[in-house]
Amino acid sequence: MTKRPEDLRSHRWLGVNDLRSFGHRSRLLQMGYERADFTGKPVIGIFNTWSDINPCHAHFKVRIEEVKRGIWQAGGFPLELPAMTLSEPFQKPTTMLYRNFLAMEVEEGVRSYPIDGAVLMGGCDKTGPALMMGAISAAVPAIFVPAGPMLRGNWRGKVLGSGSDTWKYWDEKRAGNISEADWREMEQGIARSHGTCMTMGTAATMMSVIEALGFTLPGASSIPAPDSNHPRMASESGRRIVEMVWEDLLPAAIATPKAFDNAISVHQAMGGSTNGIIHILAMARRAGLDMTLERFDEISQRVPVLANIRPSGTLLMEDFYYAGGLPALMKQLGELLDPSCLTVSGRPIGEGIAAANVYNDEVIRPLANPVYPRGGTAILRGNLAPEGAVMKPSAAEPRFLKHRGPALVFDSYKAMKAVIDSEDLEVTTEHVLILRNAGPQGGPGMPEWGMLPIPGKLVRQGVRDMLRMSDARMSGTSYGACVLHISPEAHVGGPLALVRNGDMIEIDVAARTLNLDVPEEELARRRAEWVRPEDRFPRGYGAMFARHVSQAHEGCDFDFLAAGAPLPEPEIN
Ligand code: FES
Ligand code: MG
Repeated sequence: MTKRPEDLRSHRWLGVNDLRSFGHRSRLLQMGYERADFTGKPVIGIFNTWSDINPCHAHFKVRIEEVKRGIWQAGGFPLELPAMTLSEPFQKPTTMLYRNFLAMEVEEGVRSYPIDGAVLMGGCDKTGPALMMGAISAAVPAIFVPAGPMLRGNWRGKVLGSGSDTWKYWDEKRAGNISEADWREMEQGIARSHGTCMTMGTAATMMSVIEALGFTLPGASSIPAPDSNHPRMASESGRRIVEMVWEDLLPAAIATPKAFDNAISVHQAMGGSTNGIIHILAMARRAGLDMTLERFDEISQRVPVLANIRPSGTLLMEDFYYAGGLPALMKQLGELLDPSCLTVSGRPIGEGIAAANVYNDEVIRPLANPVYPRGGTAILRGNLAPEGAVMKPSAAEPRFLKHRGPALVFDSYKAMKAVIDSEDLEVTTEHVLILRNAGPQGGPGMPEWGMLPIPGKLVRQGVRDMLRMSDARMSGTSYGACVLHISPEAHVGGPLALVRNGDMIEIDVAARTLNLDVPEEELARRRAEWVRPEDRFPRGYGAMFARHVSQAHEGCDFDFLAAGAPLPEPEIN
């Protein structure tokens, strides 16, 4: 123990004897607490992203009681602080617009209240990185309680995966291969319990990444939400955060450059979502690290995809848990992981994985038999993406990894949607479909539009993949030859804004290149003619977002939230 009760942040509110502290204490007593409940105890703020519109966090309404139980047991004082819910299926235009909002809510919530330590309850896509970004900036001890994946989907004995199988069977429906009644039946079978998507979407990716970074108890991220091990993990996290406060175990001691390398290695080995790249960049920059896309490419060249989970593989998170979960996968990585990094457990990460075992090496593959040899995600550069673009080659048809074809350009999702299923659309499988003005400022918020639909007439001919490019993102549960996060985006005048129908586009994933085969003089002429599109939001949060958000290769954080000097503690008077 390094802290005494009078060193606690909350002591300034509750422990001193003055006019203000009388008010603070009397107001806690107003809620029926005793003085003994909080006197000299760490106050733990539980940031709970539960809501009635977030199916992935439905169990948090009761799970928080287990977290609180652990906090009481260890001699802490728990306070639930509801935080913005970021429900991926429902929030429009995209939860990404609100990731930084939640991050601010956590940071300011900690700062303005008597919080000594934080429990972060999240999982659904953007909630994990948002809570982490806020906690890193708030600089108090923090532990992440992952929501955990839902159970496998089931339809007539077939296993269904969140997202991935929605897209897959939607194309079969468009092609006339399944009926409306089949589709209705699937609706009841694809999401069978509370918990996050059980494919390798952004949720499973980020919960695993946050564990690898050191911010969960060992193995926490793989436990399915309805499993009885999940509430036990929650109360253990509650006990642990109280100890972390006494130990003064701060995020800065955990979120080190080596820990981020571990996180990126796990991102690659899991076949993680492309969204994860943006979130890892943002978290690292909050921690004051100068992380760039290059680090992802360097690490991806040496780390194979080992987790056989859709969309890169064939199985689901429930299978992954029974096969040993993340500790087993990290153990398989061997020397590709740095075992010395500290975690919230107070011990090195290597200790947490020492006893792990792989129980099914079809699910968690050995290095000698990976799902994909290396480069689960690739960073591309060229005159079409001077600041980089991202692709997931493991989820694409291999013939598109080296391709040259004419561009078919759409200036908005709406314009694309209006014609994509028309029989008259002049398009072949050689074409490169392009969507622009869907980036961080243009979207705004980079909606998940990057998996453009295959034109209807080609779907009916049996085509299931094509080369698609955008400054948007795509869901981690999506798949196909999609080049994403093209930076700088079209809205700010990136080269993507200059492409015209019929221009030849060349991609070579092995060489990591992405080029527009148009002479520089012609591009200069088009650049001179280009007019910046209007911003979508005249006022409000959307306007603030577009004004302050950084580009995809920088993590899409707000400029004013970047790491810097510590902020002053609030005055209490
Ligand atoms: Fe919440 Fe996929 S919708 S995790
Ligand atoms: Mg998603």
